[in-house]
Amino acid sequence: MRRLVFILVSIVLSPLMLVGVMIYMFRVRRALKRRGVDGTTYEPFTARLVMHDVGTRSDPVARRLASRLTVTGPPVWALFGLPMRSAAHLSGHVPTVFDFPPGKPHKLMSVMALRAEFFDRTLESASGDVAQVVILGAGWDTRAYNAIYSKLRFFEVDEPATQQEKREALASAAIDASHVTFVPLDFNEKSWRDELVRAGFDPDLPTYVIWEGVSMYLDQKVIEETLQTVAGLAPGSMIAFDYLPRELFTSGGFYGLIGRYMKFGFGLLYGTEFKLFFPGGGDARDEVASILKGQNLELRDFEVLAYRTQYPAYGFVLANNVSATRE
Ligand SMILES: C[S@@+](CC[C@H](N)C(=O)[O-])C[C@H]1O[C@@H](n2cnc3c(N)ncnc32)[C@H](O)[C@@H]1O
Repeated sequence: MRRLVFILVSIVLSPLMLVGVMIYMFRVRRALKRRGVDGTTYEPFTARLVMHDVGTRSDPVARRLASRLTVTGPPVWALFGLPMRSAAHLSGHVPTVFDFPPGKPHKLMSVMALRAEFFDRTLESASGDVAQVVILGAGWDTRAYNAIYSKLRFFEVDEPATQQEKREALASAAIDASHVTFVPLDFNEKSWRDELVRAGFDPDLPTYVIWEGVSMYLDQKVIEETLQTVAGLAPGSMIAFDYLPRELFTSGGFYGLIGRYMKFGFGLLYGTEFKLFFPGGGDARDEVASILKGQNLELRDFEVLAYRTQYPAYGFVLANNVSATRE
């Protein structure tokens, strides 16, 4: 019954959402063109915004930030978010895709919630053991502004135009970012470690590196450099990252078709290219562990989310530097 009410309210309000989506897409294209801001940042952000709006994952900073960002600023979020918010509040039902924390067994539909849960959980459990957090490709990530991490020093690394947009939105929303050091750079051009050190990062302190939603856009060389860099940080340092398995593009059939459709869609809307390096097949765990070992990292937590077990769809990895285990 609750699901039925949810569907009915959603249908009645869907024209508003449609208008919101159209303005959203138009703005993504315009923001990309005019300012060079990375549009993919809005994909995970809007998923987290909906989770906040329907009351499953609290992220009040994201809500404040959204109203000041080019794409989600008024009236987009009011139009886009209202149907989902109203349907959830009136019916008491939340669709699986926005349920948080996601139920078990994990479903493909829960991928964005699982992603948020993985990075929330791993950061929270490591936060007492590290002194600083580096967020590589931070986009509109709001974890640095969560009061529970007020004792940690944060460094956000991102492409210059994207980071500038975030800094302006944070200032405009009066969100305190005084404990955050912003380091603008392109991973293809500069060493993030060198630039961080220049900005005041202490490589001798244990560090937690978040690399969420970024590995799929980088070349193997850049990925390996990042892993090597974490391996060279102080003992106790860790990295958490996610990936789209390379089988998505190498498989045939319907599964491979979805991969090609995703590639085409992201290229068309955001102008980005997926470069999938990590494996998702039956031996994925061992293969990922071996890739990490080759860079002096040790696998600590690993999960591949699969469709019907044989179709890998998403990977989650937590690794620590080898020196940490010798301590
Ligand atoms: C999909 S968004 C993820 C944002 C954020 N981590 C999250 O999960 O909400 C990808 C992020 O990686 C950044 N990025 C992608 N390629 C990059 C590069 N070559 N150099 C620096 N940043 C990059 C983008 O600017 C963007 O912020």
